Amino acid sequence: MPKSKFIVEGLAGAKTLRGSIAVGGAKNAVLKALAASVLFDDEMPLERVPDIEDVKRMRELLESLKTDPTVLRRDIAERMRASVVLTGPVLARRGSVTFPFPGGCVLGERPIDLFLDGYKAMGATVEERGDLFTISGKLKGAHITFPFVSVTATETLMMAATLADGETTLENAAMEPEIPDLAYYLNECGANIKGAGSSVITITGGKPLRANGIAYVTPPDRIEAGSFVILAALVGDGVTVTNCEPAHMQALLTLLRRAGVNIEEGKDFVRVTKGGAYKSVAVRTHEYPGFPTDLQAPMAVFLSQAQGEATILETIFDGRFRYVDDLIRMGADITVMNPHRILIRGPRILTDKRLESPDLRAGLAYILAAAVAEGTSTIENAYTIDRGYEKIELRLQKLGLNIKREEV
Ligand code: EPZ
Repeated sequence: MPKSKFIVEGLAGAKTLRGSIAVGGAKNAVLKALAASVLFDDEMPLERVPDIEDVKRMRELLESLKTDPTVLRRDIAERMRASVVLTGPVLARRGSVTFPFPGGCVLGERPIDLFLDGYKAMGATVEERGDLFTISGKLKGAHITFPFVSVTATETLMMAATLADGETTLENAAMEPEIPDLAYYLNECGANIKGAGSSVITITGGKPLRANGIAYVTPPDRIEAGSFVILAALVGDGVTVTNCEPAHMQALLTLLRRAGVNIEEGKDFVRVTKGGAYKSVAVRTHEYPGFPTDLQAPMAVFLSQAQGEATILETIFDGRFRYVDDLIRMGADITVMNPHRILIRGPRILTDKRLESPDLRAGLAYILAAAVAEGTSTIENAYTIDRGYEKIELRLQKLGLNIKREEV
């Protein structure tokens, strides 16, 4: 795979970006929908699929299942956490699945105990050899109470339960909008899922699903949309983020308004008009409908430019402040209080640096930081950003940002 990097010419705090930018299909929705295709008897059409690296990897995984129907290819599964979502449909449909411990963004510990406990509760046996897991058995309905909320465990067990014998109840389920969205589609294709979008989901198992030509339409990516809104607040002179669902971004929009950002919202757009000085706000990440952990790093960049002292409390992951050192190198005034809390004092002038992002959401935050900074910054590992954002440089160029991709 050719390696490339992004070069971003900073605006030194000037607010000049103008125009509109359309949000793409949600990575964390379409990856699950692709996994769901294993539950189908016929072809499942998908629309508004973003052209991103993780989608390519998921397609490769699905392709490889044609030759080895119960084994997830190690090299891909180790690169992408979302591969674990495929274990549910494969097990439910084929009676067995073998996979390595999933990889993906390093955000601290990311165990898979909820998945394994769920499969065991549904009557499957779990065999572990080194880091390779084999789960097998015909799934039966079960009552599963998650000890804490997990997005992918909810989605995976919900999908597996559609082909189990009898009724499954998932309690303390995640409520992220991608979950009711997927459930709605699966129900159109013959599944019987009730309560998705609330904390209790009940699934009555049945036969393999049939799309009968009905397409899954990928919803807009609320994390990409939120990051663009933050970019617009930082360096915009009138930017409209289109093709988004403001209803799914309320925690972010409320905090930005409180910080003094001028925001107008319609049914499917958010417009940010040029604002004056911003003031700091306290951020606490939370499961949906709270403030998304995936917007935590972009929000830190915003707060580095806001007046006052702000805290960010990260409640979902242990290792999600790995980007902080780079922002400090750029000139941000940030103190890491403990693995879950940082203190940001602003505003501070950021200056150009050579950056390498630790994960894909932080990668976009680095583009935001580079855009607001003085000088020309380099972000080395474009792949990390390409995993989740389609042709980001071309879309940001249209707003007037001087960003280009260079092959290395
Ligand atoms: C999903 O990850 C998203 N990924 C993440 O987006 C997102 O940050 C996260 O949800 C929270 O919103 C996908 O949808 C592919 P969790 P997920 O299980 O499901 C712990 C991105 O950049 N846990 O809700 O893996 C876990 O360690 C990514 O797009 C267990 O302990 O997150 C974490 O502390 C990054 N055991 C907490 O639960 C388990 O078996 C919640 O994580 C499963 C999870």
